[in-house]
Amino acid sequence: MNYQVVIPAAGRGTRMKADKNKLLLLLKGRPVIIHTLEVFEKDPNCSGIILVVQPEEASLFSNLVNEYDVSKVKKLAHGGSERQESVYNGLKEADPSAVVLVHDGARPFITTPIIARLVEKAAEEGAAIAAVPVKDTIKRVEKGKVVETVERSSLWSVQTPQAFRMPLIMQAHEKAQADQYVGTDEASLVERTGRCVQIVEGDYDNIKLTTPEDLIFAEAIIQKRKSL
Ligand code: CTP
Ligand code: MG
Repeated sequence: MNYQVVIPAAGRGTRMKADKNKLLLLLKGRPVIIHTLEVFEKDPNCSGIILVVQPEEASLFSNLVNEYDVSKVKKLAHGGSERQESVYNGLKEADPSAVVLVHDGARPFITTPIIARLVEKAAEEGAAIAAVPVKDTIKRVEKGKVVETVERSSLWSVQTPQAFRMPLIMQAHEKAQADQYVGTDEASLVERTGRCVQIVEGDYDNIKLTTPEDLIFAEAIIQKRKSL
């Protein structure tokens, strides 16, 4: 089933402590954002990519898109000061009747089987997100003291892609804007509308490149995939 994808790439990468947007850092000689875009470029079910960038970086990103022949990037949207605003600006450019995915530019290791499952679930149920079971024991802590051990079997670490039928996600963003609510992912906005969000089991490799050591994990994932 066809879908469009909004890729927010308008962050500052503060925690990466590089001197530029972390999506421009090189992994095996190619910028992180190109690794991410190429997954969608090669997926026959992806009918269009909306890339969200800061206005001052727009020409830089559009040059990269041309240099690496990413033909599905039809539009660049303007990033906002928060990720949620960036995503909303991107969604406004998407086909209003499509299934749309939101996927962080900083997650280059997403794979097409997971994308396909998300699109199918979102088409059926309205909203579906990639997540993996939490591996660590999680405790609630206050002032340096353990308050309780949280029961782990119901805890999931949430990733992107997050997939939605367009009317549902647009309505959720409109409501969040009206209420001045800022969430850390799109699904949290949908949850506030009372709609159910489905989980699709993802992959522990689908990391978000956030801090400098993640670049080392990224090299290891690339190495592992080469030897498969
Ligand atoms: N993003 C965005 N617009 C923003 C903030 C973030 O488009 N105003 C994008 C980032 O480019 C990234 C994704 O959202 O692809 C996930 O955000 P995050 O990992 O937090 O990246 P940054 O915000 O760039 O990093 P940091 O929080 O460390 O500054
Ligand atoms: Mg951020």
